[in-house]
Amino acid sequence: MKKWATGIFVLIIMLFGILPVAQQSMAQPAAAQAPAASNGDTAAGNISGTWIAKFNGRMGEIEIVYHLKVVDGKITGSQSLPFGDSPIVSGELTGDTFHFAVALDMFGNVQNREVTGKIVGDTLVLTPALPGPPPGTGGPGGAPGGSRGGPVVARRGTPATSYRAPAVDYAALPKVSLPTIHALSYNGLAKTPPMGWNSWNKFQTRIDDKTVREIAEAAVTSGMRDAGYIYINIDDGWQGTRDSKGAIQPNPNFPDMKSLASYVHALGLKIGVYSSPGPRTCGGYEGSYGHEEQDAKMYAAWGMDYLKYDWCSAGRVWKDEDMQAAYQKMGEALQQTGRPMVYALCQYGRANVGAWGQQVGANLWRTTGDIRDRYDSMAKIGFAQSDNAPYAGPGHWNDPDMLEIGNGGMTPDEYRTHFSLWAMIAAPLIAGNDLRAKTVEIKQILLNKEVIAIDQDPLGKGGAQVGQNGDIVVWAKPLASGDYAVAIFNRGTQSAKGAAAWKDFGWSGKHAVRDLWAHADSGEFADVYSTSVPTHGVVLLRVAK
Ligand code: GLA
Repeated sequence: MKKWATGIFVLIIMLFGILPVAQQSMAQPAAAQAPAASNGDTAAGNISGTWIAKFNGRMGEIEIVYHLKVVDGKITGSQSLPFGDSPIVSGELTGDTFHFAVALDMFGNVQNREVTGKIVGDTLVLTPALPGPPPGTGGPGGAPGGSRGGPVVARRGTPATSYRAPAVDYAALPKVSLPTIHALSYNGLAKTPPMGWNSWNKFQTRIDDKTVREIAEAAVTSGMRDAGYIYINIDDGWQGTRDSKGAIQPNPNFPDMKSLASYVHALGLKIGVYSSPGPRTCGGYEGSYGHEEQDAKMYAAWGMDYLKYDWCSAGRVWKDEDMQAAYQKMGEALQQTGRPMVYALCQYGRANVGAWGQQVGANLWRTTGDIRDRYDSMAKIGFAQSDNAPYAGPGHWNDPDMLEIGNGGMTPDEYRTHFSLWAMIAAPLIAGNDLRAKTVEIKQILLNKEVIAIDQDPLGKGGAQVGQNGDIVVWAKPLASGDYAVAIFNRGTQSAKGAAAWKDFGWSGKHAVRDLWAHADSGEFADVYSTSVPTHGVVLLRVAK
């Protein structure tokens, strides 16, 4: 499986804690599914109809909907998840037990996943075959409730309303022309890495107008706005259908985008939106394929200030070689609106994006697959960013994905590492937690102004790894004042002694050191600074010139 597809595959396993599911390519409207059973007599072994299993996964309570049709003991139908629908193939019902395979389409790579189950009273108890993570991706897959391989209970019911778009017939899709490659002018935005909030990491597609307004209010009251977190970005799940002229409409969870944008602006904040160069987003919602200019104009008319543009189903239409032109198409459309909008590419770091992201008018581009709220995921992404440093600079930034700080999956030391590493990278600081929750992570980590200043340093240099000694990894980042930011990370599972040597970034002699997590001056140190670093933790220093 390709690396980017693997990332999304892992994301799905992680989000649902259950079978990886098909992507948007299989999406069908709920209405087009098999009707609810009218002849359902589970006791007699007829399991035709609509079955819903609910469980608490990373996305909160999630529905898996099974539309089953049984004829002569053969099972067909589909499995639906918030990410898309997949056909059921080669199923069989024998007495009170059954099995079927779900054909998962991971961006054109179809894999059959076996599901086995039993009729228990009025329920179906399914024991899905959990695949675990693909090799090399780290981290376990997971079952509902965290019990790997555990069963889910499905009951007859009516699925929740979904605003995902209908299936796309990719073979019949009209070709959209792509522009000839040329460098767009700089839009003048994001002179330092963008800071703000995005709905995805915490809410996924369970997002609405009210939540966004409340988050914006919380950005103000929590002090986040004043610390620089300006952009309130709505990720996937806001889209509805297009009107008769092809103009994109939000779904009923967002009754009036213009009024929402005005509300957010009135709070002294900016607002962002999300789409895809493909016909469908990763969540199976309407994308911008063939509507690029129209969508850009709509975002501008609503008063949007930021677009995250996520490759997703574009991979079904174009090849990696077309990616630059596809992103340039929207870059041009945004610029033609005359409204300054930060342009954020999300294509998981494929096709050497650092080399051309700036040319398509982008202010930031993802460099990796999706982050998870776990140390191994965050560390794997963050510590791999050193080589991307040359691509970062005022107006154009490497984006190792949004922050997980405050979402509960890491220890305070691990979250301090997350924040420090992102600051050293000069990464966008896009919080991904519920700002309404008055957590210590907001107060003590996201609002650490001394660390934010490292990220937002006007020189705009990406930091890089300058030393390693076992689990101790040292990064350095030059600052506009002539000082250096120096981070001593401990990637090990024991607290350890770590040292940063000035010579690793070309210095020697005595320099004053300030500890940016302790908020204390540590004194002057000659040539080297040694300290104890907690497990998975960091000591972050500003070393004076
Ligand atoms: C992809 C992106 C995520 C998020 C989801 C939305 O996985 O990488 O950041 O935007 O799509 O569906």
